[in-house]
Amino acid sequence: MIKIDTKAALGAVTENDINALHDAAEAAARTLADGDGAGNDFLGWLNLPSSIDEAQFNAIEQCATRLRRDCELVVAVGIGGSYLGAKAVIEALNDQFAAYKPATGARVVFAGNNIGEDYLHDLMGLLAGRKWGIIVISKSGTTTEPAIAFRLLKGQLERELGREWASQHIVAITDAARGALRGLATQEGYDTFVIPDNVGGRFSVLTPVGLLPIAVAGFDIRALVAGAVDMEHGGDQMMLQYAQVRNALYQSGKKIEILVNFEPRLHFLAEWWKQLYGESEGKDGKGIFPASVDFTTDLHSMGQWIQDGERTIFETVLTVEQQHHEVVIPTDEADLDGLNYIAGRRLGEVNHKAELGTRLAHVDGGVPCLVISLPAIDERTLGQLIYFFEKACGISGYMLGVNPFNQPGVEAYKKNMFALLGKPGYEAQTAALEARL
Ligand code: PA5
Repeated sequence: MIKIDTKAALGAVTENDINALHDAAEAAARTLADGDGAGNDFLGWLNLPSSIDEAQFNAIEQCATRLRRDCELVVAVGIGGSYLGAKAVIEALNDQFAAYKPATGARVVFAGNNIGEDYLHDLMGLLAGRKWGIIVISKSGTTTEPAIAFRLLKGQLERELGREWASQHIVAITDAARGALRGLATQEGYDTFVIPDNVGGRFSVLTPVGLLPIAVAGFDIRALVAGAVDMEHGGDQMMLQYAQVRNALYQSGKKIEILVNFEPRLHFLAEWWKQLYGESEGKDGKGIFPASVDFTTDLHSMGQWIQDGERTIFETVLTVEQQHHEVVIPTDEADLDGLNYIAGRRLGEVNHKAELGTRLAHVDGGVPCLVISLPAIDERTLGQLIYFFEKACGISGYMLGVNPFNQPGVEAYKKNMFALLGKPGYEAQTAALEARL
C-alpha cells in the first residue's frame, strides 16, 4: 500500500497550523461523500473503482485483445483528461525503450493532444504501410484538437486499409448520447464505450477512457482497478492528511507544489497530476500552482532554483521502494573515474541516496517535503496512487472553497482561437482580437 509522510513539512508550518485545518478537511470529505457541494453532478468517480463489474472488464478486455491482435499500432486520440491518464499509466509500466524493441502486441501511440503540424505529419508517416487502428476519446465529442487529428487519421486509415477495416478498427469513447463523435460513431458503426455523465475528464482514467488504451498496451486493468479499490476503502486518512498539510502550506505562503520523481517512468504521472490539480483548484484567483520535476535530471537545471530561489514552493516526492531490475556498478581496477567507492552497489541504492540527500538539502533550504512511498511501480500501486490523488484533490478543492469539478477558464483560449480562425458565430470578436495582435 502507498504511504504518506508529512513530517518534513514541519518547520514551514507547525502541528497547530495543520491541526487547525482538521475540521475543514473532515467537512470537505463529508461534503464529497454526501454529494451536496459544488459540482456534485460530477462525483461518479468516487465509487467508480468498486462499481466496475465483470461485464465491463470483459468488454474492455475483448476489444483490447482484438486491437492488440490485429494492429501493429493503435493511435489513442484525445486531450486533457481524455489523454493523460492512459499516457501516465502506460509510460509508467512500459519498457522505456519499447519503441526500439520487438513488440508482442499493438503499441499505443497518442495524437490529438496538440496541434503540432510536424507531430501529426511524422505520426502519419509512421502509420503508412502498417496495420493500425484508432481509439478516439472525447467526452464532449467536440474538442478541436482531437477532432482535427481524428479527421486526418480516419481519412488516412480508410484510404490505406479500406473502409471496412477502418470501421472495425476504430473505437469511439464518448458521451452516451451527445456530441459530434457519438453521431459519427453511430453512422459509421464503430464499437463504442461510454464515459459516464457524472465523471469529468480528469477523473476518468478508471473508465474506458484510460482502461481501454492501457489494456491495449498489454497491462492488467483489473490490478489497476483493484489498487484504486484499496484506496476507495482504506485511504481516507492519507487523503485527509495530504489535503490538510498542502492547504496549511498554501496558507503559509507556499503557493507552488512541485511533484518530484526520481524515476523517468513517472514523468507522465506528474503530467496527469498537474492536470488534475491545476484544472480542479486553479480558479477564482486561488489555488496551489502544480509543477513537476524529474530528478536527478532536473537537479542540474531546476535544482538551483529549488534550493535557492524564492521560498514559495514545497515538494511532494514520489519515492519508489522496489525496482524491477538490478544493475550493479562494476569495479574498475584503474578507478580513474573515482567511482570504486560505490562499486558493487545497485543503481537503485545510489538513486535512493541521491533522493535522501536532495530531500534533506531542500528542507535545509526552506523547501518543505511531503513524501509518498510506492512499494513498486506496478498496476496495483498506480491504481492506489490515482485514486488517492483524485479524492485528495476533491477534498483539497472544497477546503479551498472552489468547485473542483469545473474548468471555466479553459474556454477563454478556445473563444479567441475560434474567432481568429473565422469559425461561424465568432465574427464579432475577430476584428477586435486581430487589432490587438
Ligand atoms: O478534465 C477535463 O474535463 C478536461 O481536461 C477534458 O478532459 C479535456 O478538455 C478534453 O475534453 P473532451 O474529452 O470533451 O474532448
